[in-house]
Amino acid sequence: MHKLACPKCFEPLHIQNNSYICSNNHCFDIAKSKYINLLLNPVKATNNPGDSKESLLARKAYLDNHYYDCILHTVEDTIKKYQKESMHLLDLGCGQGYYTKSFQEDLGKEHTYYGLDISKVAINMATKYTKDIYWIVGNSKALPFSNQSLDIITAMFTVVNNEELERTLKDDGYIIHVTANPNHLIEIKELIYDEIKIKSDQYIRLPFQTIESYDLTQKVSIPCRGDALNLLMMTPHYYHIKKERRHVLDTLSSLDVTVDIKVTVYKKEEK
Ligand SMILES: C[S@@+](CC[C@H](N)C(=O)[O-])C[C@H]1O[C@@H](n2cnc3c(N)ncnc32)[C@H](O)[C@@H]1O
Ligand SMILES: [Zn+2]
Repeated sequence: MHKLACPKCFEPLHIQNNSYICSNNHCFDIAKSKYINLLLNPVKATNNPGDSKESLLARKAYLDNHYYDCILHTVEDTIKKYQKESMHLLDLGCGQGYYTKSFQEDLGKEHTYYGLDISKVAINMATKYTKDIYWIVGNSKALPFSNQSLDIITAMFTVVNNEELERTLKDDGYIIHVTANPNHLIEIKELIYDEIKIKSDQYIRLPFQTIESYDLTQKVSIPCRGDALNLLMMTPHYYHIKKERRHVLDTLSSLDVTVDIKVTVYKKEEK
């Protein structure tokens, strides 16, 4: 049984016809492609280039070609360390769902998987992988889950809301937070900027009990132009490139990049 709850009143949601409905009659549609729209106040498309369709397609192509599977595998290994039987696992800010669907493929279908993102376009793309995951358009600020219902929450390169993590995570559950270190994709920054600002990438610790924290640093070789451009396009840096630097894109035929990420596992503080 799923753990979905109304994002307005947090009462459990039940399927009725083609909608999810709570006991207070708040009703949410299931889209044709089978995602559930649990976004309260539809957020207008922002100017954030990271969320553009072009950027999402580039991210999908790049991830589908397995260039970031070192990130996938380290997160999966971490989940396996903390896993229990029949878990409820939320991939928060799942984008177009590459990691979420891979978790299900690799960790097994005995668990229940939810992929949630604020972007309808991204979630719609995710539904193409499989309909066997609860794909949710929603906001990390009002997670559509019952209190203490989730065993694992993965948050990979995305924004989180601490109160909502605290509310929805089980007392014996874990948050797996993946963030970029200052050297992550340093080669792209060198390509695009005259001066590299390191401050913007500083790690912000979440206010939970740290169980472990480690860095993964690895070189990834991208041997073809198309995939190198995909990687550029899925980062915000691409959209900040100055006119006088655009020529570097014309001649780009391959790219070697550094993956440098931090994986931190948190638990709730003991009360
Ligand atoms: C950099 S992408 C990472 C996507 C995916 N986790 C990955 O690693 O490929 C960040 C994602 O967070 C989503 N996002 C941003 N704000 C959000 C919010 N308030 N609630 C849910 N998702 C959000 C964006 O739409 C985007 O898909
Ligand atoms: Zn409700």
